Amino acid sequence: MASLSMSSHIPIFVLVLLSAISDSSSSPTNGNDTDLKALLAFKAQLADPLGILAGNWTTATPFCHWVGVSCSRRRQRISALSLVNTPLVGSLAPHLGSTLGALEKLESLTTLDLSSNNLSGTIPIFLANFTYLTTLNLSFNRLEGQIPEGGVFSNLTLQSLVGNAGLCGSPRLGFPPCLDRSHSTNLHLVQFLLPTVILAFGAIAICLYVWSGKKLGNREDKASVEPTDGTGHQIVSYHELARATNNFSDQNILGSGCFGRVYKGQLTSGLVVAIKVLDMQLEQAIRSFDAECRVLRMARHRNLIRILNTCSNLDFRALVLHYMPNGSLEMHLHGSESTTTRLGFLERLGTMLDVSMALNYLHHEHYEVILHCDLKPSNVLFDEEMTAHVADFGIARLLLNDNSIISASMPGTVGYMAPEYGLFGKASRKSDVFGFGIMLLEVFTRKRPTDAMFSEQLTLRKWVHEAFPEGLLKVVDGQLLQDNSLSCILDDGFLASVFELGLICSSDSPDQRMTMHDVVVTLKKIAGEYTKRTSMTLCNSEK
Ligand SMILES: *[C@@H]1O[C@H](CO)[C@@H](O)[C@H](O)[C@H]1NC(C)=O
Ligand SMILES: *[C@@H]1O[C@H](CO)[C@@H](O)[C@H](O)[C@H]1NC(C)=O
Ligand SMILES: *[C@@H]1O[C@H](CO)[C@@H](O)[C@H](O)[C@H]1NC(C)=O
Ligand SMILES: *[C@@H]1O[C@H](CO)[C@@H](O)[C@H](O)[C@H]1NC(C)=O
Ligand SMILES: *[C@@H]1O[C@H](CO)[C@@H](O)[C@H](O)[C@H]1NC(C)=O
Ligand SMILES: *[C@@H]1O[C@H](CO)[C@@H](O)[C@H](O)[C@H]1NC(C)=O
Repeated sequence: MASLSMSSHIPIFVLVLLSAISDSSSSPTNGNDTDLKALLAFKAQLADPLGILAGNWTTATPFCHWVGVSCSRRRQRISALSLVNTPLVGSLAPHLGSTLGALEKLESLTTLDLSSNNLSGTIPIFLANFTYLTTLNLSFNRLEGQIPEGGVFSNLTLQSLVGNAGLCGSPRLGFPPCLDRSHSTNLHLVQFLLPTVILAFGAIAICLYVWSGKKLGNREDKASVEPTDGTGHQIVSYHELARATNNFSDQNILGSGCFGRVYKGQLTSGLVVAIKVLDMQLEQAIRSFDAECRVLRMARHRNLIRILNTCSNLDFRALVLHYMPNGSLEMHLHGSESTTTRLGFLERLGTMLDVSMALNYLHHEHYEVILHCDLKPSNVLFDEEMTAHVADFGIARLLLNDNSIISASMPGTVGYMAPEYGLFGKASRKSDVFGFGIMLLEVFTRKRPTDAMFSEQLTLRKWVHEAFPEGLLKVVDGQLLQDNSLSCILDDGFLASVFELGLICSSDSPDQRMTMHDVVVTLKKIAGEYTKRTSMTLCNSEK
């Protein structure tokens, strides 16, 4: 908003002098006609319910005096356009093209700040050609499509584009890759034509094995495999996946989520896998697929789910994942007695330690910070040995630098979302820590944050907090106390340590939450002391 007039530190008389000199170069009162037309065209594109531009952006005054407009002193051409958070700036229907298209002739702009408005459409490529443009801020609008490359865009930070749910490209800034142009711009046409095309080409859908050079059959080595840059592409057919899942039979469904279904399947190599098939009707599903691919392709850790293969073409996308035969944490906590094993104190501690190590890796050890954004027990899966793996990176995001906060375009899950994430869409490492804290409380109380007994007045966290530390036996999962030999040990401060950790991690204020690194250290310490303690078999245990 500050760019209405020229810098205040230039003495007035200099300005007067300069504008007097510049008078000869263009129309003295109205500046450059081309610029004027551009601004009027831009104004015409904007909804202006309060009539603020209508009353100010009029040809009765030189446009250099209009609200939000600054001109260069010499040539009276527009150097800055800055309309930030003006509630009146809405936009026309997106089908009329980008709101920004009208700015094409303003090539002398050095600053363009239209952040926090409601502008729609794409970011025009011509902005990359503006030689003088050094400050661009289009954050918090409804812009979509490909982020141009070059020019001002080569130096932008995420802060200049954040808060536009539909943008793609610019891997440097962590936006999802753009889809095939014909696909993203003309989805309906493609969907319409595709069946014909497929028939014509013999119904062969070829999928690229975009990821590591590992072959399906011999990939079962340890997690020491390094990420590759996508060298060694393997071609796997859609038919292989169809065959593996008995033509995507309902009997093979392991689960379904907002973005599609997960099938169990056996590849020709004999390997049993989980195949996550995206619902291509949902644009969000496609974005979530891209996010998940991007994260899992780069990140490798013992406690992260492994992506073995992806299958991607115009009307079909699937992720082939390591199959987890022992179900989810959700199932073990809340499933029926018959299908689940009862997890003891140490098993629960171990599970949460696994989860914390995966997050510590994503937050602090990976070369790019990755936020999971959707931690919850159904996203923690167990392998053959009951080692926990964090799964479902469908809404994960990359952070540019250590302390940044990003605005997330897709919501997490109610109950596990940090207040700042739920209310303002601000995700950071600390919002993942919050989800972890809630999950920790859930694991040891066996109460979901969404349990009917909770409300806005009494949340899971508040309930535990009120019982802390004296009354913890009232909130802890009764199953943990059934084993008499251990319950007195639990009483011995171990419950308090665990719940204290859960409470700190789920603090309302992000600053009060621990880092994942400290969580790992704390959990290891608790687990170590607990193991030492049980091996001394105190209490009335006969063992
Ligand atoms: C306005 O700027 C355009 C583009 O630089 C130029 O072609 C035109 O001559 C200028 N008009 C005036 C009146 O200065
Ligand atoms: C337009 O707004 C600017 C900045 O608020 C003000 O200085 C100028 O006088 C206004 N012009 C008209 C015609 O209202
Ligand atoms: C933005 O535009 C959309 C659609 O026109 C509207 O629903 C929404 O309320 C607008 N938001 C703001 C902050 O003006
Ligand atoms: C940008 O500039 C290049 C080289 O001058 C030109 O070829 C291209 O058409 C321009 N692009 C746009 C969108 O103006
Ligand atoms: C980007 O930044 C580099 C280094 O700071 C600078 O040399 C270059 O001119 C900048 N490019 C643009 C288009 O601003
Ligand atoms: C862009 O604008 C937003 C909101 O107005 C602000 O938070 C952000 O810091 C700005 N980004 C830059 C790079 O100035």
